[in-house]
Amino acid sequence: MRNLLVTGGAGFIGSNFVAYMLEHHPDYCIVVYDKLTYAGRLENLERVASHPNFAFVRGDICDMEAVRAAVIEHSIDTIVNFAAETHVDRSIMEPDAVVRTNVNGTWTLLEIAREHQLERFHQISTDEVYGAIPAPNRSREGDPLEPRSPYSASKAAAEHLVYAYHITYGLVTTMTRGSNNIGPYHYPEKAVPLFTTNAIDGVPLPIYGDGRQMRDYQYVLDHCEGIDIVLHKGQPGEAYNVGTEVETYNIDMAHKILDILGKPHTLIQHVTDRAGHDRRYALDCSKLRALGWRSRHTFDEALEKTVRWYVENQSWWRPIKSGEYLEYYRRQYAER
Ligand code: NAD
Ligand code: DAU
Repeated sequence: MRNLLVTGGAGFIGSNFVAYMLEHHPDYCIVVYDKLTYAGRLENLERVASHPNFAFVRGDICDMEAVRAAVIEHSIDTIVNFAAETHVDRSIMEPDAVVRTNVNGTWTLLEIAREHQLERFHQISTDEVYGAIPAPNRSREGDPLEPRSPYSASKAAAEHLVYAYHITYGLVTTMTRGSNNIGPYHYPEKAVPLFTTNAIDGVPLPIYGDGRQMRDYQYVLDHCEGIDIVLHKGQPGEAYNVGTEVETYNIDMAHKILDILGKPHTLIQHVTDRAGHDRRYALDCSKLRALGWRSRHTFDEALEKTVRWYVENQSWWRPIKSGEYLEYYRRQYAER
């Protein structure tokens, strides 16, 4: 493994992963291939842009010719696929985009990986593929996939294609199923950066329903470390859960953000719930721990670091919260 094509590398987790990899494997060449949708931003890659082993290609993962050209030009031996439409609420409003990018796009990448007999194809998947998990159960990698939103269904469909390419064509594949990430460069449509940036401005925090849905919020660099370990030690054809194994109620997460910022709790506003909202995800991560990984941040540490980053990097998120974002916010929240 030397030359990695990191698709979706201008997004939240992808850009953190690129920085992580260039720091931990400075001899690897990292080529980001990204369409730069509303969620993909070159600013996210500014800190690595001048690295001699970094290159950027703007392109759509559904465009087979463009993917092929990037793979040939940069002698790619490994694809790590982060590229996706990632917001559950948007997938409910407009399901066509998740099917196109998350399913067709993954298939396109698999075809190119097969054609060029790449060393490895790694798919970034999600704990949402397991569906809602009632307490006290935890999802293990062999459990059935029971996705319940257009987003999670598209991610599960992509997983099935990845596995099929491993079985049918012998492609060396691995997958990671991460829980909710938090940290720098997280687009402020997702709950933690949305609540944080709203709170900084004294704007209400829209909590869906009773707020007693549970998520395992992990620090993004812990997830990146897990992906790195699976890339190097993961068994072909296998999937690995990545999370802290500690779940938090959304309402508690919102209260903690307000406490960190010293803002009044009256900013919390309960709004109409998300359609088909999964109440709880919970992972068993023992398979990844057996490869030597462990989560380095507790939820409180991860949240504190994240909130501080948004306080100190307002020049990153303030321009985002204008234009298309305001129109999205109106469509998403005005009627709730
Ligand atoms: P993000 O929305 O911040 O970034 C997605 C990136 O993909 C953007 O840079 C975007 O421009 C790019 N992209 C979208 N469509 C594309 C296309 N057709 N061709 C090329 N590039 C395209 O997402 P994220 O939160 O960083 O998530 C990255 C991956 O991790 C996704 O596959 C997501 O399903 C998965 N994941 C996310 C989380 C989370 O908590 N954020 C947790 C588990 C798994
Ligand atoms: O679990 C991993 C997944 O985490 C990833 O696969 C997805 O790409 C990522 O977007 C994330 O999905 P969620 O739906 O869990 O994340 P989101 O930040 O949108 O919501 C977190 C929780 O907060 C969820 O229970 C819904 C709730 N929520 C969200 C928003 C945006 C609110 O209560 N109010 C909100 O305004």
